[in-house]
Amino acid sequence: MTLHDTSLRIIRAGQAESGAYVASPAFSQYGYCWLRDGTWTAYAMDIAGDRASAERFYRWVGRTLVGQQPRLERLLDMLARGETPLDEDYLPTRFTLDGELGVDDWWDFQLDGYGTWLWGLGAHLDLTGNGALWDELRPAIALTVRYLATLWNTPNYDCWEEAGDRVHLSTLAAIYGGLRAIETRASDLVPAGLTARIQALALEQGVTPTGHLRKHFVTETVDASLLWAAVPFGLVDVHDPIFARTLERIEADLHRPGGGVYRYKADTYFGGGEWILLTAWLGWVKVKLGRLDEARALWDWIAAQAGPDGALPEQVNDHLLAAASYYTEWVERWGPVACPLLWSHAMVLILESALEKGS
Ligand code: BGC
Repeated sequence: MTLHDTSLRIIRAGQAESGAYVASPAFSQYGYCWLRDGTWTAYAMDIAGDRASAERFYRWVGRTLVGQQPRLERLLDMLARGETPLDEDYLPTRFTLDGELGVDDWWDFQLDGYGTWLWGLGAHLDLTGNGALWDELRPAIALTVRYLATLWNTPNYDCWEEAGDRVHLSTLAAIYGGLRAIETRASDLVPAGLTARIQALALEQGVTPTGHLRKHFVTETVDASLLWAAVPFGLVDVHDPIFARTLERIEADLHRPGGGVYRYKADTYFGGGEWILLTAWLGWVKVKLGRLDEARALWDWIAAQAGPDGALPEQVNDHLLAAASYYTEWVERWGPVACPLLWSHAMVLILESALEKGS
């Protein structure tokens, strides 16, 4: 079976009746659906031609978020009264496959997934022109926009669910990309000037003196999730010198020559291995830059990481950034690295399609 077919099989098997995609069917902590992972998976299904699968996901998001309306109203009231919300007062970052809250504590205040799902919905609507879906999802879209418009520049956990006391550039990019996707369809839904303000703050505070994007506002380091600032969120153009310098830095610091891509230099999660999804992301960016041979080499590395059943893990741990004891510690805590990870398979489908189109 090709990696394409295996990826479709794994994603389809991981989609619940409800429409939610499980992050990983075989990892103790990942039996939930994240807006982040789920949206990239839906986007992959869209471009692989299974639009019905993507539509089921977006309808699940719509129902699930409308169920969160009372929580949002409570939160906005608290903020209006000048109170400081607790983590559980924010909208969740992940849900059970039935759209309920998880039973265990989680660092929930993560905004990138809320921007990402709006962006993914925009891409789905571009492909399908499904006006009825837009009408159906309008309440969930409006609720998400209110949430993001209120909190976009408040520190929150990043796409790796870490450093909740920082403003992260890849989170701002996801919010920007999501709100742009909505305002180009219905300008009345997004406060006037908001996306321009997000972009302006990102470029004012998110660029180092040497001219590249930084992981968050108080560091000089990069994070590979900055790749999505250009592709696909368009916070900066893929040909912009700021992005060119960011890419250079990511390649120098986080791309193991001939191998995969790390999240960030100080990563210790499962020892800090190479992430399949980020390796595919780098390939996607290279396709957009016309560097097709380099993109193919990344694809080949990814394909070589698949297990005998074709499954791809979250990360590959042959060349760790941190001491091996970190790897062991996480395995003892949560079991072996998540495999298969639907988001890894989704990014493979996205890179494959980009390589086929050559753009
Ligand atoms: C990652 C998140 C991801 C979640 C589920 C976490 O370890 O840092 O990016 O959404 O797993 O895959």
